[in-house]
Amino acid sequence: ATFFPPSTLLVLCVVCTLVVFSVSMTAEQKLKNCNEVRAAYSSKGFNVNDVPNKGVNGASLKVCPQGFSCCTVEMEEKLSQQSHTEIKAPVSRLSTNLQSTFRQRHDHFDKFFRELLKNAEVSLHSMFVRTYGMMYVQNAELFKKFFEALTRYYVSGGAAVNLDSMLSDFWADLLERMFRLVNVQYEFTDAYMECVSRHTEQLQPFGDVPRKLRIQLTRAFVAARTFVRGLTLMPEVVNKVSMVSASPSCVRASMKMLYCPYCSGQVALKPCQNYCLNVLRGCLANQADLDTEWNNFLDAMLSLAERLEGPFNFESVMDPIDVKISEAIMNMQENSMQVSQKVFQGCGQPKPSKAFRSKRSIKDTGFNGRFRPYSPDARPTTAAGTSLDRLTTDVKKKLKHAKKFWSTLPETVCAGERIAPGDECWNGTAKSRYESVVIGNGLANQVSNPDVDVDITKPDIVIRSQIAVLKEMTSWLKAAHSGNDISFETDEDGSGGEESGSGCDSPSCDTDMYFSTTRSPVKPRIDSVGSPSAGGGRLTRKRGAGALRAGPGPARSPLEIKVAGQEEEENDQNWWSEGENCQRDFKKTAFRTLDYPP
Ligand SMILES: *[C@@H]1O[C@H](CO)[C@@H](O)[C@H](O)[C@H]1NC(C)=O
Repeated sequence: ATFFPPSTLLVLCVVCTLVVFSVSMTAEQKLKNCNEVRAAYSSKGFNVNDVPNKGVNGASLKVCPQGFSCCTVEMEEKLSQQSHTEIKAPVSRLSTNLQSTFRQRHDHFDKFFRELLKNAEVSLHSMFVRTYGMMYVQNAELFKKFFEALTRYYVSGGAAVNLDSMLSDFWADLLERMFRLVNVQYEFTDAYMECVSRHTEQLQPFGDVPRKLRIQLTRAFVAARTFVRGLTLMPEVVNKVSMVSASPSCVRASMKMLYCPYCSGQVALKPCQNYCLNVLRGCLANQADLDTEWNNFLDAMLSLAERLEGPFNFESVMDPIDVKISEAIMNMQENSMQVSQKVFQGCGQPKPSKAFRSKRSIKDTGFNGRFRPYSPDARPTTAAGTSLDRLTTDVKKKLKHAKKFWSTLPETVCAGERIAPGDECWNGTAKSRYESVVIGNGLANQVSNPDVDVDITKPDIVIRSQIAVLKEMTSWLKAAHSGNDISFETDEDGSGGEESGSGCDSPSCDTDMYFSTTRSPVKPRIDSVGSPSAGGGRLTRKRGAGALRAGPGPARSPLEIKVAGQEEEENDQNWWSEGENCQRDFKKTAFRTLDYPP
């Protein structure tokens, strides 16, 4: 049953045959003289004499279709090496770009944080020289040490510096020095001063400043240094993964895809896109398996970046640190009478100083710090010349862009000039449509790859180890997101130890710990942090003339950390409520004699 009369069919058949004949004639023609192949081959830098003048019998070819061919076995070998190089090139170029992007971002952030630290130190120095004069200069090394420790913590983390005890020591040291200054008329033994510093926590001579500063510094530093560490890790991972060499079957498949058209005399023929995808998915099977952990890592980096902009803002903690410490000093000055009284009750009445009685007066040596109004206009700006917000916005864009980098590599490579769109393409045997299905990404899917033999039972060791590295870093980033530094705990055996379980989580709130100098008494339970998410509570600083008021008096300094939407206060509650309850209970029982005001 046909609609065509027999004669029409006959004509069609003849046309058909003629077309087929003429197509095969041109291919034959090209194979007969291998001129195009010679030109293309030598343009790749190979010796033109390798190429036969006319097509030869390619029965001995190992990769390309056998039969009449412009290739010899030697050419096939050389072209194999060439295709190895060519298949690696786009991947390594993309990897190099990614590496340099994040190396740069790392350098920006690192430089910015270090400069903030340096600027805070410089700023505190000049402010304190002006405000406290000799009294500061004689004790300047205390503050120098403080900033050194902060920098060391930033660089090396919790393994190098225990931030909590560093801060406790700093305040105890400051109390000791100030206590001597406000009590010059007395003489204190080392044992006496030890008693004083043991009681720093209960005396709270500096008001609420040490507690607030500790929360803010901990969060800001943990977030900043973990984020920077994540930025360091990215190029390292990319570099190691990009070094993974192609398997012999990948090289073979690449050779077939890229250069077998040469052997059949079709030098300009590009592979079909789906063919290219299957070859690259086979070649990059292990790399694609990085994707899940890579994306988890990037998500964790992105969440931490939000923290950097919001309540964990390093800049808004470090920049006004001079003012905060000064506020603490003013608190001590205001409380000095009560503090001294409590100390005398708790540690005993000190002996009057002979030296003091003989020559000096309180006026000359005592702590009568006169505060001049502080004008913040001469504040140095960071040489990085950019705010944390801008850095963060930029890095977030780059982090988002890096997502799915590994699994999309085949698509990225099999595009543009490297492939021929449509069906007029090299399908591995002919200039024809590629019929095989495109298989999925990752090692497991390669079991059915029609173009590359992949042993799915042998995952690449380098890539497996990088997956583990990413996993670990992601857990550090997530902990940092809650203000917790766990990066150094994994080095020690057992979890927690000194860093995790101290404070008042223990069933009985042991009062003795307040007399221990090695442990910090109020340790936050990190797991109960509320999420200060929406709106991003930004720390802003009120600054202006008269920020530091002159002379004693009941008025409080107007300078304080104000938080949009009261988020910081709420957060503090979440972070510290347990510790505070404990502290309150403790005050009732343990240090009653000192009768500390609330
Ligand atoms: C390539 O094209 C030839 C000729 O059309 C066909 O026989 C072969 O199956 C195709 N190969 C693939 C993988 O599609």
